[in-house]
Amino acid sequence: MAEETRVLLQHIGSADLLTVKDYREKGGYRALEIALKDKTPEQIVEEVAQSGLKGRGGAGFPTGMKWSFIPKDVEKPVYLCCNADESEPGTCKDRIIIEQNPHLLLEGILIACRAIGSHQAFIYIRGEFHRGANILQMAIEEARREGLIGKNILGAGFDCEIAVYRGAGAYICGEETGLLTSLEGQRGYPRNKPPFPAVAGLYDCPTIINNVETLSAVPVIIEKGGAWYAAYGTEKSSGTRLLCLSGHVNTPGVYEIVLGNMTIREFIRDFGGGVPGGRKIKGVIPGGSSMPVLRDDQLDIPLTVEDIQKAGSSLGSGAMIVMDETVDMVEIALLLAKFYEHESCGQCTPCREGTHWFVQILEAVQQGEGRPGDIELLLDICRSEYTSICPLWAAAVWPVRAFLKQFREEFEAKIQPRSMEAEAETAPAS
Ligand SMILES: Cc1cc2nc3c(=O)[nH]c(=O)nc-3n(C[C@H](O)[C@H](O)[C@H](O)COP(=O)(O)O)c2cc1C
Ligand code: SF4
Repeated sequence: MAEETRVLLQHIGSADLLTVKDYREKGGYRALEIALKDKTPEQIVEEVAQSGLKGRGGAGFPTGMKWSFIPKDVEKPVYLCCNADESEPGTCKDRIIIEQNPHLLLEGILIACRAIGSHQAFIYIRGEFHRGANILQMAIEEARREGLIGKNILGAGFDCEIAVYRGAGAYICGEETGLLTSLEGQRGYPRNKPPFPAVAGLYDCPTIINNVETLSAVPVIIEKGGAWYAAYGTEKSSGTRLLCLSGHVNTPGVYEIVLGNMTIREFIRDFGGGVPGGRKIKGVIPGGSSMPVLRDDQLDIPLTVEDIQKAGSSLGSGAMIVMDETVDMVEIALLLAKFYEHESCGQCTPCREGTHWFVQILEAVQQGEGRPGDIELLLDICRSEYTSICPLWAAAVWPVRAFLKQFREEFEAKIQPRSMEAEAETAPAS
């Protein structure tokens, strides 16, 4: 029976960690002391690179490498933005850290700022997270009173401020450049890359954007070492991961595991308690709503980034959504298409029009009014997946293409009867 390995969630549930005193009693802020007094910024970057830590926001970019992209000796200020937008359907891990262990995140942010030479960090938090924003605000104020934020932190001569910025509940503001434009006070339109944010980000200054879970893994890496962290998991999936398990399982929740220790099916069985009513699994979305769905017969693979990639999907933001045999896959494809249509910012034609066409066609298919050729038409629209400013359009394409590939017969079954009827109606009387 697979078990959790709690590193980030270590004291959550068993201790109230909301104050500096409580957090310190559990060893908190020790890593910050090490980072400020015993390590140079380059050594911190090196340690994080050695840990193999990869971004937990969805794209999985190596964190140490990202930090090293900040140009040396820049005259402009350098910024760190913590991405706490957490809007990918199925994802619900960052809010647990924010609400139950806010100082872990603050400590990670301070160490990251030290590493990249930043003296100002922003936490861009999803608008609906009222509780989380208030908790962070209180934690920041207390940390400032305790000399952990502000001038001359821990007497080590390092200055750093952290500000919380509340979004207005738009999925696109989780995309890193949309986040930056929103943070600058404009409509959250994503920007073309290059230039990449590490060179020209917030207010045209060098900026690093990292997810909440990514930054929260930094203190333990600094305290115990990059090699210690890298010893967990596999070569390409090091450390622990927070996985959000939802959908048709008996015990949904956020679980911290080491990747490579179990198969996807074992994870669903041991942590999710199986499927209600003992029903069979039909499909699993392994990494948040954008990621291609897997069929039941693909679940006996090791739960790792690389194995899920080989199976044609991705662990993305770590949100695993289980769908049992009663689920109508055409309905799910339509539901997801509606989400992306609603969240498209409308700047790029393929995304603005494509998400709309997806909904029109899938709605018709779902209502039994689909036409022969609709599947091919949908697949044709998918071909423009990489022609937009930001990856939201690709994120809208992947589920549609995957549902068509994996469950094509369900789409065909809805199109077939109606088209035969229509043919009969239009056939000339003999
Ligand atoms: C449409 C869209 C929405 C996104 N939403 C989030 C989000 O809510 N949280 C997040 O951390 N990353 C999100 N990302 C990924 C970010 O653009 C970025 O890659 C990430 O914040 C980088 O942090 P990391 O390297 O620590 O993963 C989103 C990306 C896209 C394309
Ligand atoms: S891909 Fe979509 S969401 Fe991204 S910039 Fe273009 S229109 Fe906006």
